[in-house]
Parts: sequence; C-alpha cells; structure tokens
Amino acid sequence: MNSKNFQDLVKSSRTYRRFAEEEPLCYGDLAALVNAARFAPSANNMQALRFHIVVDPAERSVVFPRLRWAALYRDWDGPEVGERPTGYIAVCAPKALATNAMRLIDTGIAAQTIALAAASRGLGCCMMRSFDPDVNDVMGVSAEDYTAELILAVGVRGERVVLEASETEHGLAYWRDAEGTHHVPKLALEDLLI
Ligand SMILES: Cc1cc2nc3c(=O)[nH]c(=O)nc-3n(C[C@H](O)[C@H](O)[C@H](O)COP(=O)(O)O)c2cc1C
Repeated sequence: MNSKNFQDLVKSSRTYRRFAEEEPLCYGDLAALVNAARFAPSANNMQALRFHIVVDPAERSVVFPRLRWAALYRDWDGPEVGERPTGYIAVCAPKALATNAMRLIDTGIAAQTIALAAASRGLGCCMMRSFDPDVNDVMGVSAEDYTAELILAVGVRGERVVLEASETEHGLAYWRDAEGTHHVPKLALEDLLI
C-alpha cells in the first residue's frame, strides 16, 4: 500500500449509522476485523483487552435498544428496522484496570484498527461510547470480569457519507441533507498544527 492508498483508506473510514440489514455479517466477518486489532500496540504490550462479538439476531435485538445514536441528530432515534447493524464488537477491558487510563488509550487504538479493517473491506462501522451500562450483563461480559469500553456497530454500508471542509454554516457539527447524505466536517491541516 502506498501513502495515497493509506490516506484514501483513512478518508473512507467514516462513521456509518445505517446499514443493509438484509445482507447480514457472520461471526467470521467480525472475527477477521478483531484479528487486525490483535497486532495493534498496547501499553506495556499487556494486550489486556478482549473482544465480544455479537451477530445472533436475538442477541442483536437486546443490544440495539441500549445504544445511543448520533447525539447531534435530535429528532432521529437511530437506524430503523431494515437498516440496523448486523454485528457488534464490544471492546472490553478487565475490571481490574478500571482506574488505569491506559485501558482507554488501548481501546481507542484497537477500535480505530478495527474501523480501518472494516473500511478496507467496504464495510461500515460506528464506534459507540454512549450505551446503557447493563449492556455488559446482556452480553455476558460482566460475568467474565470485563467491561465494554466501546462498542463498534458494524454492517454493510447503507447510507452515503461525505467529508467536507469545516468552513460552512454547520461548523464541526455533522449534518444530513435532504437526500439523506451524512456530511462530516473536518478541520484543515493548518488548524491542527500548533
Ligand atoms: C470515542 C468515540 C465515541 C463515540 N460514541 C458514539 C456514540 O455513542 N454514538 C454515535 O452515534 N456515534 C458515536 N461516535 C461517532 C462520532 O460521532 C463520529 O466519529 C464523529 O461524528 C465524526 O465522524 P467520522 O467518524 O465519520 O469522522 C463516537 C466516536 C468516538 C471516537
């Protein structure tokens, strides 16, 4: 892969919140994404994170209502039936590390690695930190002494997402146009360099 391909991959790795539910992913599809995160760096190479995969429709239906979608879209409660994710990957940290900030840094690195792996396969995903805490119980990770730090909702892409410069009336707020295209404003390089 050359640097242009890499930049294109990163640009294509956007947050997707609507999916083609009629094309479900299987356990192996999600395990392949976790396999990419296996090679991600971690503090002290502890590799303390664990990953819980959900693809079973019954389990999906108990996870979904516990997720909070797109806080900036105040009159949208999340994807409708038919456009919901067909898989979830919960990035879980040991409860023993509950006060160790490294777990969250490791979580972010693992999550972005999974997101890039998903994008490289043309899949969509949404990292989610807003969810009801009891999702840990319904997924059974509490019993294993783990806590979900981030949940990635994954599926075949079911919406159009575009990047744009942040110098519009929307500022940094993502927005959806009349055709349903989701717009994601990003700052310019010179805004980031200090
Ligand atoms: C740590 C983190 C937590 C997030 N939590 C949520 C969430 O709970 N619900 C949601 O709909 N999106 C969530 N997102 C997605 C962000 O809203 C999204 O990354 C942002 O709008 C920028 O879009 P982009 O990912 O396409 O660049 C989260 C993203 C990150 C990195």
